[in-house]
Amino acid sequence: ALVEKGNYRHFMEKEIHDQPEGCQHTIAAYIDPIAGRARMAGDVDFAALDRIQIVACGTSYIAGLVGKYLIEKLADLPVDIEIASEFRYREPALRPGALAIAMSQSGETADTLAALRLCQAKGLKTAAVVNAQESTMAREVDVVWPIHCGPEIGVASTKAFTAQVSVLTALAVAAARARGRIDAAEEQRLVRILLEAPRLIAESIGLEDAVKAVAVDIAKARDVLYLGRGPMSALALEGALKLKEISYIHAEGYAAGELKHGPIALVDEHTPIIVLAPYDSYYEKSASNMSEVMARGGQVVFITDPEGAKHAPAGAKVVMTAPASDPLISPLVMSAPIQLLAYHVAVLKGADVDQPRNLAKSVTVE
Ligand code: G6P
Repeated sequence: ALVEKGNYRHFMEKEIHDQPEGCQHTIAAYIDPIAGRARMAGDVDFAALDRIQIVACGTSYIAGLVGKYLIEKLADLPVDIEIASEFRYREPALRPGALAIAMSQSGETADTLAALRLCQAKGLKTAAVVNAQESTMAREVDVVWPIHCGPEIGVASTKAFTAQVSVLTALAVAAARARGRIDAAEEQRLVRILLEAPRLIAESIGLEDAVKAVAVDIAKARDVLYLGRGPMSALALEGALKLKEISYIHAEGYAAGELKHGPIALVDEHTPIIVLAPYDSYYEKSASNMSEVMARGGQVVFITDPEGAKHAPAGAKVVMTAPASDPLISPLVMSAPIQLLAYHVAVLKGADVDQPRNLAKSVTVE
């Protein structure tokens, strides 16, 4: 494939902007828009599964975390997820009734591959959600679910993340139907929502100018805290990971409910706090955490949607309004603002965005 930056300064910037199209490709492979059905290729009987075991590293792990929320909620199917480097060495209790899923952009990450092989040795059926279809993982698993977003060059993963989340969203819908948790009409409704994702991702990329303005302040910070609940707690981890990877600013992502068990001690007027909260079932709780940090001088950047902005507690330094979306796709829609924030902070700091120090695109040795 022809890989060029085009009019962009960095691959990462291009790849963030590629996401509406990338997501469209991904969804096209897992959705039948005419029938209104989600379809996962390969011979996996979701109705018969006891559980899913996801193994992954880095951003792929965080994509898996988002998937856990969606799959358990929609399909009532237990999902365990673990960092591959831990999983492979700790003698996990595995039963053949589980499906092992490796999440990996490259399909070559050493720890993820070893974790996958461990699952195979224990008699589990295995699947890989990968970008590189010629990769070792793709060759070794029973079922390959490619993410189809095109080559990703920037070391910090962006479009692969939203593509991985798109695959797991389709999987959640397919599994829900197979397990009798939703009927055909509900599946069609969810599929229609998923088909809206590329357009809404494009709209949320439209927040770029607002994000750029905020980046000026964040670039001066020593520590940044990201908070969210539910799937947004996973995005909080991703926001923090992206920022530290490419801007070298210390950042932590936390489930907002854990705030008072530690991170609130860090909050003062020098600490920017990014709160991710669309107007969903978690909103009230996240908003109250936001008030708690503001009461301690915390400078809040509130990333929400129109309804969330309307109900926002007073005092946020900045409110960024992403498009309204169903909770099924809000992780996809809310990703671009945090990616863009990390990107613009890194650019302001003069960092080498596509080749951050000490990091590799693919960690193929331990
Ligand atoms: C490296 C990359 C990350 C990536 C992780 C897992 O750390 O810098 O962007 O998320 O590896 O890679 P994989 O190819 O398995 O998704």
